Amino acid sequence: MAQSMSDTNRKLPILWIVLGAAASVFIVLVLWGKITWFSDQAPVEFLPNMDHQFKAIPQSGSKFFSDGRTQRDPMEGTVARGSTVYPLGMGDVDKAESFNVNPHLEKTEFLMSRGQNRFNVFCSPCHGYDAKSNSKVVERGPWPGIPDLTREQTAALSNARIFHIVSAGQNLMPSYADKISPTDRWAIIYYLRTLQGVEGTDSNAPTVAASNSSTTGSAQ
Ligand code: HEC
Repeated sequence: MAQSMSDTNRKLPILWIVLGAAASVFIVLVLWGKITWFSDQAPVEFLPNMDHQFKAIPQSGSKFFSDGRTQRDPMEGTVARGSTVYPLGMGDVDKAESFNVNPHLEKTEFLMSRGQNRFNVFCSPCHGYDAKSNSKVVERGPWPGIPDLTREQTAALSNARIFHIVSAGQNLMPSYADKISPTDRWAIIYYLRTLQGVEGTDSNAPTVAASNSSTTGSAQ
């Protein structure tokens, strides 16, 4: 009795195991979302997570915005990554003298305090609040050659040149063109002039001799 049962059991299971395995694979695949093999319907999703959400697809229309456009204009003052925000290179110091024209913004109390605020935020970490480079970065060093901006040779730089240094950077000093708007850069310069105690010239017009490359370095 026991012998005959095990005989039939031995034949049947192979068929059932094969069929069972095929069925399980099929069910698993259907549950996995492969239903699209034989159906136009969306796959069954047990955990859709964030697959379906209200989102803006490029070049599509939108019912959300009153003008029906999905694509929005960039916010004022935003700068796209990798875009050219200041066209001159670090070494174009001669061009900068005529390129950067002081807009002579009215030095209102607001503008001057804006300049001070931006200077304190962006420049003081290296150059110090008083521009004499008594800063945390200098204190903790080693960061070579952060100059005292109130020294005579820096005070003698034209507004156009300082605008150029802030916009293009100079040697180890990075460019701030993508971080500080042009108006704020001028406000910083006006404020820096008060720290230097000088009026400052707008431009030192380029001369033939000025093509000397030493004008780009900290030797200047
Ligand atoms: C990360 C540190 C750092 C920050 C922040 C920084 N600078 Fe500088 N700055 C330097 C270094 C270093 C130099 C010297 C560059 C060189 O070797 O020519 C320099 C040089 C300068 C010079 C030229 C001085 C000269 O006599 O040649 C000016 C002007 C200047 N910085 C202004 C600014 C202003 C304005 C800001 C804020 C917008 C600023 N810097 C922010 C590091 C910095």
